Amino acid sequence: MKKIKTLFFCQNCGQQSAKWLGKCPACGEWNRFVEEEIRETDPSRPADARLDGIPQSIETISADEGERLHTGIAEMDRVLGGGIVAGSAILVGGDPGIGKSTLLLQAAQKLAEKGLTVLYVSGEESARQIKLRAKRLGASAKGLLILVEVELESILARIQELKPAVAVIDSIQTVYSSALASSPGSVGQVRESSARLILMSKKTGIPVFLIGHVTKDGSIAGPKVLEHMVDTVLYFEGDSGHAYRVIRGMKNRFGPTHEIGVFEMRDTGLAEVANPSAFFLAERPEGAAGSVVVPSMEGTRPILIEVQSLVSQTSFGMPRRTAIGVDHNRVSLLTAVLDRICGIHLGGSDIFLNVAGGVKVDEPAIDLGVVSAMASSFLDRPIAPGTVVFGEVGLTGEIRGISQMEIRIREAARMGFSRCILPRTQGCEGFSEMPIELIRIGSLRELTGHLF
Ligand code: TYD
Ligand code: MG
Repeated sequence: MKKIKTLFFCQNCGQQSAKWLGKCPACGEWNRFVEEEIRETDPSRPADARLDGIPQSIETISADEGERLHTGIAEMDRVLGGGIVAGSAILVGGDPGIGKSTLLLQAAQKLAEKGLTVLYVSGEESARQIKLRAKRLGASAKGLLILVEVELESILARIQELKPAVAVIDSIQTVYSSALASSPGSVGQVRESSARLILMSKKTGIPVFLIGHVTKDGSIAGPKVLEHMVDTVLYFEGDSGHAYRVIRGMKNRFGPTHEIGVFEMRDTGLAEVANPSAFFLAERPEGAAGSVVVPSMEGTRPILIEVQSLVSQTSFGMPRRTAIGVDHNRVSLLTAVLDRICGIHLGGSDIFLNVAGGVKVDEPAIDLGVVSAMASSFLDRPIAPGTVVFGEVGLTGEIRGISQMEIRIREAARMGFSRCILPRTQGCEGFSEMPIELIRIGSLRELTGHLF
């Protein structure tokens, strides 16, 4: 009898091991190894697995920027780097219920409206359920084809037969290949299915969207292992409690990364938010202490965000430090600088910090905003109306220059702000013609003099 060969795979990162392990040596997760059967060589694979193996001169390879396919959803095209590139594989990840299927059905509809054929493969919902959703979205284009199928081989056969302009797989965790013995959703299956779909896409030039779930408990393979295989990774941020959704480009072989697209979930699907600054500032309290606006860069786009802080007397024991949307360690550091340089002693205070709207910011430009919000709340003095601040704060209290200052100032001016506190660095002398008062500071000591 032929012995079945098996290996153990970490369901989190795809690490292989000959024996079962409690802790994954690669990602450090516990209890994630699952035994999966290995087929040594799959007879159907070799022919299929070869791309046209003839070397070509780079000079003769045609690649035109104009070949990008526009989805018609501007926010989505932006994160894709200007549209869908032929033959690319795009992974769309996010928590369940965040709107992945909705967005892709909308994009598919838009493409189909242009007269293209789009194949939407679903392994999660029945054709009727998809139709019900499509009704809400007003999607009824003739070229939008729905296929309810989970078997990889027949999905590939259908794609090859139909040659759609775009294929959507919802979701990759439901697809399984009959060439593998492991169950759908396991790392082996997800990896094999994706690899075959990506290969098909590269060979035929048909772009494919793969929807992937990320679960907290991790019982099914997260799309982490896929990130290396695909060309573009888009992640949905935001929580289902809020109406807004942000899709962020985490990886993009064909465009800038960290670009974001902002949407609002309505009862008719996802609506684009063309002016995110206005959207994030919509509910900002006027004249309240502890609130400040920072022009932050998200990819190539400036967005005004509100940083809020609440500093209150610790009632007993250890002071609490809570930061949402900004790095916790950064806040501790800034608290210490504020204490030493400005004489604002927060040692006996609880500090709560929040970036309104649930956005996450990880650039140093937010430093000055964090410091200003904490100082304003501590002193119980509202920041002067119409003020924005940005700049990196160093350990000696110096304010350091940051990138793309001009774009940030322009966005603030466009949104009607009249004062901007910014770093006093070289190279920003030319901004004086802007319709906004520029207050340049070199040290944190100067901050409180200009803030209120
Ligand atoms: P869905 O796209 O099914 O999420 P995912 O595919 O990421 O799991 O989105 C489901 C949520 O979106 C659900 O909570 C209902 C809500 N929704 C709307 O608010 N409006 C709509 O028009 C649609 C289609 C969904
Ligand atoms: Mg879905």
